[in-house]
Amino acid sequence: MNIGFCILVSGIVSNSLIFDSVKKNVKRFIPFQNHLKKMYQTIKTELTEGICVITINRPDKLNALNKDVINELGAALDEVYTNAEIKSAIITGEGLKAFVAGADITEFTDLDAAGGAALAQVGQDKVFSKIENAPKPVVAAVNGFALGGGCELAMACHFRTASETAKFGQPEVNLGLIPGYGGTQRLVQLIGKGKAMELLITADMIKADEAKALGLVNHVFTAEELLPKTIEILKKIQTKAPLAVAKIITLVNEAATASKTGLSNEVKAFGESFATEDKIEGTAAFLEKRAAVFAGK
Ligand code: COA
Repeated sequence: MNIGFCILVSGIVSNSLIFDSVKKNVKRFIPFQNHLKKMYQTIKTELTEGICVITINRPDKLNALNKDVINELGAALDEVYTNAEIKSAIITGEGLKAFVAGADITEFTDLDAAGGAALAQVGQDKVFSKIENAPKPVVAAVNGFALGGGCELAMACHFRTASETAKFGQPEVNLGLIPGYGGTQRLVQLIGKGKAMELLITADMIKADEAKALGLVNHVFTAEELLPKTIEILKKIQTKAPLAVAKIITLVNEAATASKTGLSNEVKAFGESFATEDKIEGTAAFLEKRAAVFAGK
């Protein structure tokens, strides 16, 4: 067990203003600082009173989920599972603009059907299902765009808080694709079939207040309050019996979990969408910053 996993690395936390109100209580495991810096390139981790804040840290690419982020998130989640110092976790994005603007589209270019399906399956196994089934609460603090894989990442968490400027959407159809990290399953569970269907096939984006009205997020806070208030909720949960909390997570998941068949069908269909001309056109149009023209092939 690596107790040095969650560290505040002084000076590199640009969300520091947001953390000011909780910083005085942050635990520091200074001897492991260099080890951690080597360990993660695309995420940051910090332990605050038993709460591990995991920040996806590619702000110049709107925190898009590339392979490195998926691998590092997977490793961080393994620590959340096994490190007794960690009682719960928050997943958020660096900066004020984006939580996560989706899977990294630049990694889609060379993927065929098998490659697309593998990408979805690996992400589901390493990160999304691991979050959903975590024995400790994992909450998304959505600080900006949560699109595609970003919305799916938030939905895999046990519940969600959001800043007033957060925006949610599943824009995969703009790229000739479908969601591959559980979006077709968890959005239906969280907001119901009709609205989920509309959002998934229009690619419309919704703001935080609408997301709250739909039940997609539980609380909307100002950007400054997002982390302190989310930490406050988790501190309240930490006063409850941990084994009971873990059992409730399992049972609530059983009541409302993404069906295994639905998730594996989604992986298959996601892969199939990579074998279409529309995927080539949609991803090329995004990268060339122009509107896509789909042939339906
Ligand atoms: N994958 C890879 N790169 C991404 C990305 C993604 N999902 N989302 C944003 N980026 C990159 C942009 O390409 C750009 O990079 P550049 O500066 O090297 O050109 C950078 O992040 C900033 O994004 P930009 O599009 O310039 O910001 P914007 O304010 O004009 O638009 C969004 C913001 C979120 C509306 C727009 O970035 C977007 O539509 N992103 C893709 C969302 C998506 O389709 N997600 C699902 C993927 S399956």
